Amino acid sequence: MTIQDIEKVQAELDALQCSNQKEVEEARVRFLGKKGIVTALFEEFRELDKDGKKEFGRPINTLKQAAQAKIDELKETVGQVQDASAPKVDLSMPGDDMDLGSRHPVSIVRQEIVQIFRKFGYDVAEGPEIEDDYHVFEALNFPPNHPARDMQDTFFVSSGHPNPLLLRTHTSSVQVRTMEKENVPIRVVCPGRVFRNEAISARAHCIFHQIEGLYVDEGVTFADLKQSILLFAREMFGPQTEIRLRPSYFPFTEPSAEVDVSCNICHGKGCNICKGTGWLEIMGCGMVDPNVLEASGIDSSKYSGFAFGMGLERIAMLKWRVNDLRHYFENDMRFLKEFEASIEV
Ligand code: DAH
Repeated sequence: MTIQDIEKVQAELDALQCSNQKEVEEARVRFLGKKGIVTALFEEFRELDKDGKKEFGRPINTLKQAAQAKIDELKETVGQVQDASAPKVDLSMPGDDMDLGSRHPVSIVRQEIVQIFRKFGYDVAEGPEIEDDYHVFEALNFPPNHPARDMQDTFFVSSGHPNPLLLRTHTSSVQVRTMEKENVPIRVVCPGRVFRNEAISARAHCIFHQIEGLYVDEGVTFADLKQSILLFAREMFGPQTEIRLRPSYFPFTEPSAEVDVSCNICHGKGCNICKGTGWLEIMGCGMVDPNVLEASGIDSSKYSGFAFGMGLERIAMLKWRVNDLRHYFENDMRFLKEFEASIEV
């Protein structure tokens, strides 16, 4: 035995490559098997005298360890040979769960409200979220110094301009745009996102959603408004629902009212949702102010109309008794999934 014999085997080991486990096993037999190259060297080693053993003891053991390490490494890294008869996939493995999204509760409510008004013959209209002062305030009869124009409430995009750009604070701006371009009679609902400079809390958010309604024609009266809202409330909250109108003020309607629906939880007896009153506030409404009709080029001596506006999160909160507005914006799947069953397909 010479040191070159050992180096030659080491070089062979270094160059060893296998492409499957069968080859790895063949290599193991070739080097470390009973009749393997390394085993043969050990047999020779056993015959050596004391000096020979001293000289070759360490290198031959190192070689054996290297051979074992190389085979182990190949066993780990080389792909398993496919047994042709074995199935390529394990059909008994559980499948991967595909997490499908679900419709957002605000979208569910919007769709339900839109569908109700479609049955009444209303179209859907949309308008820009970045609006100008004219369409959000001026054309809607807001006096020049009305607090709603204040920096506290409105996100202004540009200022120092006579008609600054801003994020719309309500969807009533879409009323104006519709009246500007459509001919009377007009019957539209306008769903959309609105923005207000509010501190975020359980009851207020800087982004929320509204749906606006507008009906303009000859001879539209407050009785039409009341009946339309009663029919809507019964479709939305159940056939037993009653409504009540309380006088209110909006610059763009005269007269104006807030609408309450009878509490669908305690049916008027009083509970903590309706704060013991038996009534829940759902929207603002009124007869479109003649100034608003005129500003958009509609002859107020011939035509009249009514309008209403409600918050979608508010309606969703009443429908599902969610007590914190922030849930709608956090996109927590555990919350969103709770509304799947409410989707009517
Ligand atoms: N724009 C009002 C708001 O944001 C809601 C509203 C009230 C809309 C009365 C209307 C209406 O069309 O007639 O609070």
